[in-house]
Amino acid sequence: LITDVRLRRILDSRGNPTVEADVLTESGGFGRAAAPSGASTGEYEAIERPPTEAIAAAREHAVSRLVGEAYAGNQREVDAILRAADGTDDFSKIGANSAVAISMAAAKAGADVLGAPLFQHLGGTFRGENFPIPLGNVVGGGEHAADATDIQEFLSAPVGAPSVEDAVFANADVHATVADLLEERGVPSGKGDEGAWAPSIDDETAFEIVDEAVSQVEAEVGFEIRFGLDVAAAEMYDADSETYEYESAGISRDPDEQIDYIAELIDEYDLVYVEDPLDENDYDGFAELTDRVGDAGAASGHDSRADRTLICGDDLFVTNTVRLEEGIDVGAANSILIKPNQIGTLTDAFDAIELATENGYDSVVSHRSGETEDATIAHLAVGTDAPFIKTGAVGGERTAKLNELIRIADDAT
Ligand code: PGA
Ligand code: ZN
Repeated sequence: LITDVRLRRILDSRGNPTVEADVLTESGGFGRAAAPSGASTGEYEAIERPPTEAIAAAREHAVSRLVGEAYAGNQREVDAILRAADGTDDFSKIGANSAVAISMAAAKAGADVLGAPLFQHLGGTFRGENFPIPLGNVVGGGEHAADATDIQEFLSAPVGAPSVEDAVFANADVHATVADLLEERGVPSGKGDEGAWAPSIDDETAFEIVDEAVSQVEAEVGFEIRFGLDVAAAEMYDADSETYEYESAGISRDPDEQIDYIAELIDEYDLVYVEDPLDENDYDGFAELTDRVGDAGAASGHDSRADRTLICGDDLFVTNTVRLEEGIDVGAANSILIKPNQIGTLTDAFDAIELATENGYDSVVSHRSGETEDATIAHLAVGTDAPFIKTGAVGGERTAKLNELIRIADDAT
């Protein structure tokens, strides 16, 4: 039984305040978790409130309903109480940041009471033995860095790695190799919010460099590495002109040209993954692209969990089962990004993963650009048997999750 819920403001990786929750139980269980925060947030995400307000509202409306009432190990009950206490569809009263911090802290307290690792508490004993393939952000721009690429993320995808450890180190290698290639070209570079290199180069040059870095590391490690993108196209879409604005390249593309462009990139670079290639309201455009390329790679003899090109909805689906249903109905994608803070609770994230899996969509459990040391998503990905996790390549708040994956694999095998 939950005996206390403590909430506080802590720092996130951008230096902004975020919400941390502690959940304590009668039997001495303890769980602590913190909310992440996005910069290129989707229009339909649950609402993040300023932490001070979110904490005050959660204390007023949610804490007393949980304390002495709910068992930390009963995740559905805890999350239903959070929803009822909030009373809105989008957590605009207590804040999705308070909600997700409490939800994840309760899960950890529940695992602690059982004496089980979190991934096992979440996934149960029959969760399977697969580990997610980590997608590592190695070059990026968009909303995550000024004066860098238009495409938000170039993601290394070590699809043939024999272990999660090999995969994590391969992504770090690609990240380091990109730095070498930038130096060779005399291009100085800082890093963006997720630790990816953020040089002032156009997308075309970024493709050349990432393609080369991936090939070099692939030759060294001896297993297949491909790469993918988060286009985050909603951020470049201008609704008035109905065009995608590639500002650093000075190019404007209408929706048909955007679909052609993405399909060409998939073909030219054998991309294994493309997230948000179109605006978050363009289900039909997504469907057209998925129809054209969603099986690419399937017949090409790729030997891994990634046997097709994933068209992934992040801002499109916002981890929301209602939006995912709409997408499934029209064939808008073949995978979904899962960010617990987009929807507010672990239960909602679970339900999205379950609906996705039932319909042949691959789940990609994801960090946000603003993160903390919290590693819950590593356990969520393993516990739900998600085929992919996107949580950066380097940097402390990213390695918190990557190193946790290595530890989980070490404990489980
Ligand atoms: P965000 O970006 O966390 O800034 O929203 C990550 C993403 O778009 O996947
Ligand atoms: Zn995204």
